[in-house]
Amino acid sequence: MIISSSSVGNLLLMVVVMVYSCSGGVMGAAPRRPVDVPFGRNYAPTWAFDHIKYFNGGSEIHLHLDKYTGTGFQSKGSYLFGHFSMHIKMVPGDSAGTVTAFYLSSQNSEHDEIDFEFLGNRTGQPYILQTNVYTGGKGDKEQRINLWFDPTKDFHTYSVLWNLYQIVFFVDDVPIRVFKNSKDLGVKFPFNQPMKIYSSLWNADDWATRGGLEKTDWSKAPFVASYKGFHVDGCEASVQAKFCDTQGKRWWDQKEFQDLDSYQWNRLNWVRKTYTIYNYCTDRSRYPIVPPECKRDRDIY
Ligand SMILES: *[C@@H]1O[C@H](CO)[C@@H](O)[C@H](O)[C@H]1NC(C)=O
Repeated sequence: MIISSSSVGNLLLMVVVMVYSCSGGVMGAAPRRPVDVPFGRNYAPTWAFDHIKYFNGGSEIHLHLDKYTGTGFQSKGSYLFGHFSMHIKMVPGDSAGTVTAFYLSSQNSEHDEIDFEFLGNRTGQPYILQTNVYTGGKGDKEQRINLWFDPTKDFHTYSVLWNLYQIVFFVDDVPIRVFKNSKDLGVKFPFNQPMKIYSSLWNADDWATRGGLEKTDWSKAPFVASYKGFHVDGCEASVQAKFCDTQGKRWWDQKEFQDLDSYQWNRLNWVRKTYTIYNYCTDRSRYPIVPPECKRDRDIY
């Protein structure tokens, strides 16, 4: 068969389109993340400093939980909008009673907060990923899912995209939750309180695993969660410029990040249908009237 130059052209175009659409999704327009950023560049320990262990010049750290204490760290900077991610390998083996958290939070009393909480389990039993959003000090927007992989085997990327239009929770670039800006419906949306990035590992065996039935087995301590990926893609709010100018200047503000695309909506609906354990939006005994922001969740309610 003779391949004409125009079909070579089409082939090339196809390859380009394929490569583009494979890298599509939220990361499509994102700059490449620098690897091996040392922990200390953007983060500092919050408590129990000796329970954080450093590897490879700080490009990987381990949080240790034992019967004396857990530990945690926080970003040095505060951020107003951005894309915040962390590569985490959860506590392997028997992690029942432990909680590993990765979240953003502002520091004032009517605070905003965006939460990932990973609830451990007995060996071989599935973790639960709980997410929540606080606006103006009020949370009560829990969702819980199972994951489609074992989060203790490898590092996976957990991230939050936060701009004026939406907050999206991602697991390895798969959107698992969207919180749209529903200011027009009278729902508060985080927009003017800079947040720090936090992570911690602690004991919560009064509620975490099977509602508190499974207790932490301290004979298995220390419990160890591993972290990499300390780069931060956010608009840093310094003391001088409390509200940094993000309009149109940062990649996370641009058009393709203002809503999910149809591919992402499909992925999100796949997660919702297949992995949901709990969703406050569908909890009619707790919320007889559907919370307004839930109506923005296309396709399911
Ligand atoms: C732990 O495993 C049990 C049994 O498979 C399951 O019901 C529960 O949802 C799992 N996760 C947590 C965090 O309790």
